[in-house]
Amino acid sequence: MPLLEGRVAIVTGAGSIREGIGNGKAVAVRFAREGAKVFAIDRNADAVAETAEMIRAEGGEVAVGIGDVSSKAECERLVQEATETFGAATVLHNNVGIGVPGEVGDIGEDTWKRAFSVNVDSMLFMCQAALPGMIDSGGGSIINISTVASMRAFPGVAYGTTKGAVNSFTTTLAGRLARHNIRVNAIVPGYIDTPLVAPVWENESVREANLRQVPMRRFGTAWEIASVAAFLASDESSYVTGALLPVDGGLLVRL
Ligand SMILES: NC(=O)c1ccc[n+]([C@@H]2O[C@H](COP(=O)([O-])OP(=O)(O)OC[C@H]3O[C@@H](n4cnc5c(N)ncnc54)[C@H](O)[C@@H]3O)[C@@H](O)[C@H]2O)c1
Repeated sequence: MPLLEGRVAIVTGAGSIREGIGNGKAVAVRFAREGAKVFAIDRNADAVAETAEMIRAEGGEVAVGIGDVSSKAECERLVQEATETFGAATVLHNNVGIGVPGEVGDIGEDTWKRAFSVNVDSMLFMCQAALPGMIDSGGGSIINISTVASMRAFPGVAYGTTKGAVNSFTTTLAGRLARHNIRVNAIVPGYIDTPLVAPVWENESVREANLRQVPMRRFGTAWEIASVAAFLASDESSYVTGALLPVDGGLLVRL
């Protein structure tokens, strides 16, 4: 039996930034393959339309919501649309996240605030909007997308810092929401070969240097993020909450 048969799942950032399969897109497609009714959110209408087409072509069930999840009002509207379309969601996958340039000495105030707004505020606002329906439904699963940069010093001071906040948000919520039968976990991806980072690896020396850091000697795929998301969304992980789960080919444990 499919892992998510009949469940309603919201996925944010369900398009891909450019051609190909990003993390959010793969998760939306995988959730639909597992029998979920997927409400796919993105601020880019064309990008999320492609994801919806892919799901429908496979016979899956999907509706799209267009909006910017860094806005509380938009999150409220989007969750309302999802609820009107499919009923209350019991799976919320918070995928939206951006990298921004700048190190501690030079990052601008607006850039720093934008990183927090998109990477952290969006997760709070989506949870606030979705929680009442999830609680009324008797429970659910929230999955937040973090990064190994939240646990190690990677370039760009705001990216790792905001994702560190995502980790704390995840463990805090896990503790606070367990009594409502809501599990909250984070996936901590390493180097994943997605359209987001593909341009970086067009530079062969950067690509080789990054590959050498990974004990498994390859980059991950968005489908490998999606399979862990399907596990965390489903009852297969029924006693897992508050986990910050690396999906990184061993990057965090390398010698
Ligand atoms: N690819 C990697 O190597 C890697 C590694 C670690 C973590 N991550 C994390 O994965 C997530 C993104 O993965 P992806 O491949 O889906 O990226 P992506 O850049 O393809 O983004 C997916 C979609 O998010 C949408 N989006 C961006 N900001 C939005 C907003 N404010 N509101 C609504 N939609 C918005 C974009 O339009 C895009 O279609 C991020 O949280 C990122 O930090 C990626």
